[in-house]
Amino acid sequence: MPDTTFEPKRIVVTGGCGFIGSNFVHHVVREHPGVHVTVLDKLTYAGNPDNIAGLPSDRVELVVGDICDADLVDRLVSETDAVVHYAAESHNDNSIADPSPFLKTNVEGTYTLIEACRRHGARYHHVSTDEVYGDLALDDPARFTEETPYRPSSPYSSTKASSDLLVRAWARTFGLRATISNCSNNYGPYQHVEKFIPRQVTNLIDGVRPKLYGDGRNVRDWIHTEDHSSAVWCILTRGRIGETYLIGADGELDNITVLREILKAFGRPEDDFDWVRDRPGHDRRYAIDATKLRRELGWEPRRTDFAAGLAETIRWYRDNEAWWRPAKEATEARYAAQGQ
Ligand code: NAD
Ligand code: TYD
Repeated sequence: MPDTTFEPKRIVVTGGCGFIGSNFVHHVVREHPGVHVTVLDKLTYAGNPDNIAGLPSDRVELVVGDICDADLVDRLVSETDAVVHYAAESHNDNSIADPSPFLKTNVEGTYTLIEACRRHGARYHHVSTDEVYGDLALDDPARFTEETPYRPSSPYSSTKASSDLLVRAWARTFGLRATISNCSNNYGPYQHVEKFIPRQVTNLIDGVRPKLYGDGRNVRDWIHTEDHSSAVWCILTRGRIGETYLIGADGELDNITVLREILKAFGRPEDDFDWVRDRPGHDRRYAIDATKLRRELGWEPRRTDFAAGLAETIRWYRDNEAWWRPAKEATEARYAAQGQ
């Protein structure tokens, strides 16, 4: 266990109107009463201010802006103790259709943030993905660790890998007070309908058959977004500077199993879905070994009952149609154009 604790009073959360960022903001407001959060979010198609609406205005401020805007970033960083960086272009399929915003936001945006943190001596936590490690074979007993070589497959994961490497270099060369986390696939409320679980759930609400890529045997290592939030807070406040921590909750499942669980919840037959065109370069399996985070910082996931978490997530989409409905039609039109 580390013997020092960092106790930020003011943090900037980039991408705090997106899926995981907004869940983190809710987590901080609920669990850490002395902390003020400034959300910096560009409100792209994936950002929704409703995700943080209703939180106390003396605790949470929304600044609508771009992480590539160096003047704005400099001002916000000069007023904060720490930056927790979630903002990104986050969807693999979009990155295949058009990589350019991924380069801009994920690489240049990260560069802009770390330069400002270096100038002002602010602590920086970099939120990344296990996809930087590429994929594993289905029959490989191995899981990703902090020592696994980088081998990203997609435009999305290669821009995330690039940003991780910038942070590592800034920590070593400039003494940036940084930590990095690489997490597996999240699920929970406020996830955009373009992603696997919300897409299938909202299709079923609409009476449309779910869509499964390839042979459906690709494995993802699911973690509830609330467990991701607690892990990021733990690393921000107790992680060692310059270190990377993998975040995962031993939730490996193949896509067809997840889909059948969703179909069951809707009382539909287990084969009531469409096989669609596979994603080019589709990673086969992700799996995280989170031993370092558990042993060194004592973190434990709490929401490890996937069936219960999925049922709760399905209920959230049933109860919050007004939240996802505006994005649904355009998302499906995009997929239809790609044959997916
Ligand atoms: P998301 O797409 O739901 O949200 C991204 C947010 O960033 C949106 O609010 C968007 O408006 C904002 N944003 C995008 N470009 C911006 C810019 N240039 N300036 C300011 N704001 C901008 O993404 P998510 O799924 O919540 O992922 C958040 C982070 O977590 C990403 O860095 C992603 O790589 C990482 N991550 C995601 C997963 C997952 O399962 N979704 C797993 C591991 C890591
Ligand atoms: P996704 O939610 O896009 O996350 P990631 O690409 O970051 O893992 O997809 C999760 C898995 O589900 C992935 O193997 C692709 C697959 N998938 C489908 O089978 N059908 C779909 O409609 C979508 C969106 C994804």
